[in-house]
Amino acid sequence: MPGYRTLDTLDIRGKRVLLRADLNVPLKDGVVTDATRIERLAPTIEALAGNGARIVVMSHFGRPKGGPDPAFSLRPLVEPLSRAIGRPGAFAEDCIGAPAARLVEALRPGEVALLENLRFHKGEEANDPGFARALAKLGDVYVDDAFSAAHRAHASIAALPRLLPAAAGLLMQAELEALAAALERPARPVLALIGGAKVSTKLDLLRFIIGKVDAMAIGGAMANTLLFAQGVDVGRSLCERDMAEEGRRLLDLAVERRCHVILPEDAVVAPALKPSPETRIVAIDQVPAEGMILDIGPRTIARIVAALAEAKTLVWNGPLGAFETAPFDQGTAAVAREAAARTREGRLLSVAGGGDTVAALAKAGVADALSYVSTAGGAFLEWLEGRELPGVAALATAAPEQETPR
Ligand code: 3PG
Ligand code: MG
Repeated sequence: MPGYRTLDTLDIRGKRVLLRADLNVPLKDGVVTDATRIERLAPTIEALAGNGARIVVMSHFGRPKGGPDPAFSLRPLVEPLSRAIGRPGAFAEDCIGAPAARLVEALRPGEVALLENLRFHKGEEANDPGFARALAKLGDVYVDDAFSAAHRAHASIAALPRLLPAAAGLLMQAELEALAAALERPARPVLALIGGAKVSTKLDLLRFIIGKVDAMAIGGAMANTLLFAQGVDVGRSLCERDMAEEGRRLLDLAVERRCHVILPEDAVVAPALKPSPETRIVAIDQVPAEGMILDIGPRTIARIVAALAEAKTLVWNGPLGAFETAPFDQGTAAVAREAAARTREGRLLSVAGGGDTVAALAKAGVADALSYVSTAGGAFLEWLEGRELPGVAALATAAPEQETPR
């Protein structure tokens, strides 16, 4: 049994369901450029509608400064949401008060309404109990499908579920199940692929992961810092020189915890990070003084591929090179294709997440080929750090008695 309440524990028939979603999607000139988060909501909405619930969708969008701002309105999301769920949605100009109450009152079983951006009220980010009570008036039960916002202790995520019967939606449940399969009770050996620019922003993550996995391959500029910590001359590469001591401590910790660390053995170097410069492949101890390491080299790729062949579970966060700029996406792409192939063959359970990671996998054309790609950025990272997420904690089976909404 999971440690959180699931949708099947709630009586939703004919009820007003407050559904916390994460509609914080990329929007360009009013058009959604990646609708994944919207599309993944559809199963929960179908399940609720199929049971005759009246569905009130709430979300934040962007980071407005605590007051109404048309640039952060959720109105442009009504149409894409309606399309994704195959039923028209209504819109309330405000997420609390009379406009919202009128709209919710008018909903019939199976109908959906979207409320305006929760962050137009300061009470949302302040986790204000009064704001949570104002939201609670609009529903009989609460369902959270916003795993990607579960790291925020905000009113609609932390306080509200304590005021109403509450449960995880199907998307939240799928995210949590995928993450549990990867780190809580994984098939071993487990390989972690960790990339990205900085060791300093992923210290907690690295420390936690080292204690959980059997092997960890590190790429991206953060590998330069660890190589530098071992005395490798990384030339003009991005490198946090002041993190060398910390880097050595991490590598010692890995030895102590028997986590096999794979660092780049060779690299693709260039004089500058720009499209199609003159590149060279060099052994890692041969980086030219004027060169920058911008991707892992073929020998490193082969080593990671060999580690993938042994692994039964993969957890991936962070690109392995400067993937936004060709040709420095090739290391990440080669590893991604291999992970996808082994997943398709049923030999590997692969879970990936984090903003750049998803973009890198999409660029490599394999975003749909892994076992699970999380739509979460920060929440995925905090989960990889072993931290309790307020949005998940609020749905705990052993949560304190509900307060009665006033
Ligand atoms: C996200 O996109 O990371 C989530 O929606 C959380 O948004 P936030 O970082 O603005 O709190
Ligand atoms: Mg974020």
